[in-house]
Amino acid sequence: MREIAYQKCIHPDCGATYGVDEVLFSCRKCDSLIDVEYEWDRTPMPRELSFFEHRWSTRESRVDFSGVWRFRELLPFAREREILTIGEGRTNLQTADLLARELGMRAGRLFLQYEGLNPSGSFKDNGMTAAFTLARKLGRRRVACASTGNTSASLAMFASLSGVDGAEPMQGIVFIGSGKIAYGKLSQALDYGALTLQIEGDFDACLRRVREASDQLGLYLMNSVNPFRLEGQKAIMYRVLEARDWHVPDWIVVPGGNLGNCSAFGKAFAELFDLGLIDRIPRLAVINATGANTLYQLYHQQGVTWNGGRVDTTKIEQLYDRMDGTGFKPHTVASAIEISRPVNLPKALRALDIMKGVVREVSDEEILEHKALVGRYGFGCEPASGASVAGLHLLLKEGVIHPDDSVVCILTGHELKDPDATVRYHTGIDMKATEPPPPQPVRGRYANPPIKVADDLDAICKVLGHTGPLPGPARKTAAIGRS
Ligand code: F0G
Repeated sequence: MREIAYQKCIHPDCGATYGVDEVLFSCRKCDSLIDVEYEWDRTPMPRELSFFEHRWSTRESRVDFSGVWRFRELLPFAREREILTIGEGRTNLQTADLLARELGMRAGRLFLQYEGLNPSGSFKDNGMTAAFTLARKLGRRRVACASTGNTSASLAMFASLSGVDGAEPMQGIVFIGSGKIAYGKLSQALDYGALTLQIEGDFDACLRRVREASDQLGLYLMNSVNPFRLEGQKAIMYRVLEARDWHVPDWIVVPGGNLGNCSAFGKAFAELFDLGLIDRIPRLAVINATGANTLYQLYHQQGVTWNGGRVDTTKIEQLYDRMDGTGFKPHTVASAIEISRPVNLPKALRALDIMKGVVREVSDEEILEHKALVGRYGFGCEPASGASVAGLHLLLKEGVIHPDDSVVCILTGHELKDPDATVRYHTGIDMKATEPPPPQPVRGRYANPPIKVADDLDAICKVLGHTGPLPGPARKTAAIGRS
């Protein structure tokens, strides 16, 4: 039977289409990003969103237990038996009245979506279940990502559990920047058994290298440039609506790093609207850290917009050239969003267009102060997630968001991902620096230490077991702003 899903280039002048079984992360013709699309009229669609409620109340199957796959009609690219789920997406929308009062909002108007309550402690599990499902459908055995920590933790967990239903397990390979990752996240990748390469460079360097290594060695890439990841992340919005009895909020506020989440949210709402399942679309606020504010600079300061899909790439190239020229490196206490070349930039511009969005930047100080407020008046979150509440506060002060608007802040990662940042904030002391010197190392039976590698493709491929000349053509540098 012909698949309902297919892949499509997002550029309106190209629009090339590909089958779901084709592994590609940018258009072969024009190098733009790729969407997963569906022939909606060939798949059964509920008439109302409330249809989905019975799935959770009865939980008749393992897919109904998943906060992603109980909405499977809205991401119909896999058959039920093909789905690889670990029970992701059972997260919580908290009515945050105490925090609302602190920020000067009316009671019952502020909601916090705790994506840190996923199995690996961040929102990434929503996307990973989708990408792993496709990887398994395609028979891929080695999966890889670059990460500021949470993607690697999630990938490592899914890889370690991928053999759970008798299937051949997959090997997880993660690329992390040296000294660029919170310990809670690194500990997860090691504990779940992923092959962990610590590259001498930052996230942007890791992403470039993992894309090259994937091209050369046939690793399946799990970063959010993989469009199937974003299909899973749409479900965060479905659950927000579900928890609000299907009432669309006025605002969604989300931190921006590689810009996968905001891109997925825009797609989710555009599809729900086009399918007649909602009658209005909320507004979007994407919050950058000041030290990693590419989207803010381009969209807010320079007016770069989606422009019907014909994004002004010159301004983007000029910004990246300036960054290279001055040796700029992104820097923020919110290490999860310490990214200067967000790979989903064009899709994020599209989401801002669909959702009449705004972009703001917040300082590290504001991030930490608002993270502390979420800890004081909620369940806590990691620094990057604090950016969304800091951004809300700023937008309230500006009068862009009103105290009686209904607002959902997405808290992307768990408080315990980065306890060092929390302890430093509360004590003013770097606790690690005051610890006594460690005893002589003893190697545990299951020890899985990271491997340090230079920022060099040959060295990386050698560590991944490849000797001799590289088989594939060198990856061409993607047209900036289009990949
Ligand atoms: N919040 C947290 C906790 C994150 O881990 C990330 C991204 C973001 C926000 C940004 O989300 O990329 O969708 O804009 N972390 C990635 C990683 C980059 O490797 O774990 P985005």
